[in-house]
Amino acid sequence: MADPAPLDVRIQDLLRHDGQFVRLRGWLYNARGKGRLLFLLLRDGSGICQAVVLRDAVGEEAFALARGLGQESSLELTGTVAADPRAPGGAELKVKGIRLVGPSRDYPITKKEHGPGFLMDHRHLWLRSRRQMALLRLRHRVIQAFRSYLDGEGFYCVDSPMFTPNACEGTSTLFRTDYFGEEAYLTQSGQLYAEASAMALGRVYCFGPVFRAEKSKTRRHLTEFWMLEPEIAFAGLDEVCDLAEGLVRHTIRHLLATGADDLADLDRDPEVLRAWDAEFPRLRYAEVAEMLMAWQAEGRYESEFRPGDDLGAPDETILGEHFGRPLMITHWPAETKAFYMKRDPEDPSLALGVDVIAPVAGEIVGGSVREDDLETLRRRIAEHDLPEDAFAWYLDLRRFGSVPHAGFGIGLERTVSWLSGVPHVRECIPFPRTLQRIYP
Ligand code: 4AD
Ligand code: MG
Repeated sequence: MADPAPLDVRIQDLLRHDGQFVRLRGWLYNARGKGRLLFLLLRDGSGICQAVVLRDAVGEEAFALARGLGQESSLELTGTVAADPRAPGGAELKVKGIRLVGPSRDYPITKKEHGPGFLMDHRHLWLRSRRQMALLRLRHRVIQAFRSYLDGEGFYCVDSPMFTPNACEGTSTLFRTDYFGEEAYLTQSGQLYAEASAMALGRVYCFGPVFRAEKSKTRRHLTEFWMLEPEIAFAGLDEVCDLAEGLVRHTIRHLLATGADDLADLDRDPEVLRAWDAEFPRLRYAEVAEMLMAWQAEGRYESEFRPGDDLGAPDETILGEHFGRPLMITHWPAETKAFYMKRDPEDPSLALGVDVIAPVAGEIVGGSVREDDLETLRRRIAEHDLPEDAFAWYLDLRRFGSVPHAGFGIGLERTVSWLSGVPHVRECIPFPRTLQRIYP
């Protein structure tokens, strides 16, 4: 009797089709076997399935085809789903038919160890590896969490432009472009435009790629990365801290609820994440500086940090170890921060900024209250040697119904790196752009 037409299913849904005749479409991840039995590992992006090929079940010709398949050949497999707790994903496919869609020979990424340079040169193929697929899915889930949290809090997504006539985060990391004969920049942050949008809709966020000509070769720096930037009208430092904490903790819970398989593929213990879903300590910069100086004096760690400086990697590391969860640092020396940050009315040498420092990963969030007074902001623009005419529109926001407002930016790749435990941000974006790399 002829088989019924197979049902097209994705591997993640296999278990729901136990006993049914289905078709899987994907790529050959791995193959092993001997004699009249072959195990094909097929991946389709949603998971990896073990497909059992018996010569007697598929016939001589199909068996020979299966045995000769190269890694990453694309295939259609038809067969019957059999629940099996020992199989990866809890079910395997008893193969009836095999169709080769696209052959693959001498796939460059094999089971042997490859160096990071080789893998990065083959990033377009490396994405198909188990860990990299898990990271891509995890990144997707972090984006889901970012958006769903803010949408649930009454924010509107309003995107900021990528081409801009003005600098946001200092002039040293600007990418310059020729914009029809005029100089323009790739944006370093969507914040300034988000402020304008917040004056229209009250609570907004922008989410997109931003660009920084970072000369640093650290594991935390990309030249193109994604940033989520919420901005709130009628808000101050407390609201920004509450929102950042709420967002980060929601993201952790969303990953625990939906990303268990991805965390497992990354050898990430979910308990590590669960422990971070707890109240974030909030400290002032001055308190943190005192702790760091004391730890240096005790010989607990070495650092060039002195009170008044921005934090360096060793400082963030030891703070992460000490607190064991994300830490919020507020009231920064104004010189360490951007021109738009409002000063503390009680001590104008301090900026009302907040950074969230995560264990191991370091800074994942930077935010602040914005200067809302026209004349003060004008002075800051001049002090920072920024051209006032490029900021005329930004100053208008302080001319027409200025309100206290505040916001922050959270780096997507830093967040993915932190939560996944993958130390280098270059693996946390599909095609990384760094000081040394623009290929592939
Ligand atoms: O602290 P930053 O520079 O803040 C801003 O750009 C503000 N305008 C955001 C705002 O208030 N709307 O950057 C914010 C975050 C950092 O905490 C970090 O997570 C990430 O962006 N980030 C980077 N990620 C990868 N590579 C880089 N070169 C990064 N620079 C910053
Ligand atoms: Mg920062």
